[in-house]
Amino acid sequence: MSASVTSDAFRYAHAHRSEIAWLSQNTNHLVPSEVVRGALETAIRERRYEGYPMGSGDPELLELVARDFGRPGLVPFLTAGGTESLYMVARALLGPGDEVIASDPSYLIIHRFVELSGARTKNLDIYAPPFRLTSDRVREAIGPKTKMILLIDPLNPLGSGFPREEVRAMAELAHDHHLVLLNDVTYRDFSDGHALAAEFAPEETVTVWSVSKNCGLAGLRLGGLLAPAERIRSLARFNTNDLGVNVLAQVAAIAALRSKPEWIGGVVRQTRANGARIRDVVAGVPGTELPVYPSRANMMAIDVSATGLSPDRIQEEMLMKHGVFIRSGNYLSPTHGNRFIRISFSNPPSDIERFARAFPEVVRNLRAPVSAPRAV
Ligand SMILES: Cc1ncc(COP(=O)(O)O)c(C=O)c1O
Repeated sequence: MSASVTSDAFRYAHAHRSEIAWLSQNTNHLVPSEVVRGALETAIRERRYEGYPMGSGDPELLELVARDFGRPGLVPFLTAGGTESLYMVARALLGPGDEVIASDPSYLIIHRFVELSGARTKNLDIYAPPFRLTSDRVREAIGPKTKMILLIDPLNPLGSGFPREEVRAMAELAHDHHLVLLNDVTYRDFSDGHALAAEFAPEETVTVWSVSKNCGLAGLRLGGLLAPAERIRSLARFNTNDLGVNVLAQVAAIAALRSKPEWIGGVVRQTRANGARIRDVVAGVPGTELPVYPSRANMMAIDVSATGLSPDRIQEEMLMKHGVFIRSGNYLSPTHGNRFIRISFSNPPSDIERFARAFPEVVRNLRAPVSAPRAV
């Protein structure tokens, strides 16, 4: 999809924010608002935003993040979203000529960061069962230039996840071949039985986390790294937030992480129920199917290739005619992006019902042959 089509869609969606069912960015709209509202209101009343936060981060937040992961010996580091952590990892650990084993489809922003550091990704095609990297394929792909394995678990955009034994096998590969294992666990709270690579290879693994999706705080831009202290020191050379990350984001994240055990189960249950509803809708639309179901995250791909329709057209019709914002796969896969759309579903059921009404109609209408004007 061209940049202008994408930015037009976002411009339109933001301008009509209150009317849009936002199923396009894997954001989470199910966390009860009282979880963070009180804390943010107090912080605003106290005008916390006038001063800088503590540079290294609020000690309570650091403690909560460490506890959330439960891996003694690993140290959290705060950045402006997980995105910035991914950038720091690429800049600090990669250089010209290095190779990173990754997948296609993938969260391609990370691939861009790899390229900015002069390295390249070796993208293994995973648009076929099991729709994720396997340790066997990664082993075969390792060569003299390989420096890093990118393990996004669960994977945006397909929603596939890695069984514990596969995470262990990837960790062993990283250990045996002296590679860095970049474990992006942005969606881990949605995944049953999720395993952290750091459990098996604490020295080789750099974990990137976020509170955007699990805690529903994407707009506040807070995430970070988790790694041994020495590794954190080398990554922190590329830290741009010398004066700390957003103080209100830290306040909200503290409130959310303190209470997460009380509400995350409900968020995941509703997300799953929404996924099941979407599966039923897709089953009724000829030419469409789900490559991965159930998703281990809060998004999945819907393959539309058998409809002969372009995902861009479907995105546009869904947004402009129905106010339902899903994404074309084009920004997630150079090879297969024209075969699928991606939908996220940590949303109120009413948003999912809007999708359920719009999607069959959009596909039917776009597929209907345009009848020639009748001669008079
Ligand atoms: C796999 C993956 N990693 C990282 C991010 C970035 O998240 P953040 O909002 O923390 O920057 C995203 C956002 O969609 C993502 O899908």
